[in-house]
Amino acid sequence: MSSHSDKNLVTLATLKKMKKDGDKFTCLTSYEATMTSKICDAGVDVVLVGDSLGMVVQGHDSTLPVTMDQLIYHLECVVKGNKGAHIMADMPFMSYATDDMGFENATRLMQAGANSVKIEGGEWISKMASMLSDRGIPICAHMGLTPQTINRIGGNFVQGRDPTKRELIINEAKSLEIAGAAMLLLECVPDSLTKEIMSELKIPVIGIGAGPSTDGQVMVIHDLLGISCLDKLPKFVKDYMKDSNSIQDALKNYVKEVKENKFPAKEHTFF
Ligand code: KIV
Repeated sequence: MSSHSDKNLVTLATLKKMKKDGDKFTCLTSYEATMTSKICDAGVDVVLVGDSLGMVVQGHDSTLPVTMDQLIYHLECVVKGNKGAHIMADMPFMSYATDDMGFENATRLMQAGANSVKIEGGEWISKMASMLSDRGIPICAHMGLTPQTINRIGGNFVQGRDPTKRELIINEAKSLEIAGAAMLLLECVPDSLTKEIMSELKIPVIGIGAGPSTDGQVMVIHDLLGISCLDKLPKFVKDYMKDSNSIQDALKNYVKEVKENKFPAKEHTFF
C-alpha cells in the first residue's frame, strides 16, 4: 500500500477517477498534525477535520458547541501534518445559517488549507452549494443522519427507512448534484437506499453506516482505534486495534479492508 508523499496529491479529480475506475477510497477524521501524518503514511486518501471533534476531543455530547475558530485551529494542525491527502473541513453548526455566512466561513476554511468543505443538509443548501462551487469551493453535502440536527431528529436513528423520507433523500441528493455539490456523504441509511442513490449520482459518494456500495468510506479515528467514550459502539464501527499490533497496522488494515471491499461487512450495515 503506497503512502502519499507530496502535498495535495489527492485532488477532487483523483477521487472522481477512483470512482470511475471502481477503486474505493478511504477517509478518516483527524484533528491534529501527528495523527494526520500517520494517517497519510497508511495511504488514506481523504482527511476529514470533522466537527465530531466536539465529542471526541472536547468531550461534549454533541457536535453543536464547535465554533469556526476551533475548527480552524484543528484544521491548521491537520494541514501541518498532511502529506498529500485531500483535506475536507466541516462547516460547524450555524456557520452556514445564511448564504452570506456560508460564503464567508467556507472561504475562511479554504484559506486555512481545506481542499473542500462539508455541509450538512438537503435541498435548502443547494443555492449555497451552487454559489460556493461557482466560486471554486468544492462542497460535500452530508445527508442521511445529520448530527447537527440531532435535537430535531431526537436521536441517532437510521434515516430513510420510511418511503416518504427515502424519496426525499433521493430527490435532495439528485438536486444537490445538479446544484454543483462535488461529493455526497451519506450517514446511517439502509443499504438499499445507498444503492439507489449510487445508481442516480455521478459525483463520488462517501459512506458511514451506509453499507459497502459507496465509492469511499469514512470513520472517526477514535472509533477505529477503539478509544470511543461511548458505552455502546454504533453498529457501523469497527475497532481495528483488536486485530492489530500497532496504530500504524490498524490504519493500514482499515485502508486494505476498504480497498478490498471487506469493510463495511454485513454486520456493519443497516438493512
Ligand atoms: O464530523 C465528523 O466526523 C463527521 C463524520 C461522522 C462523517 O461528519
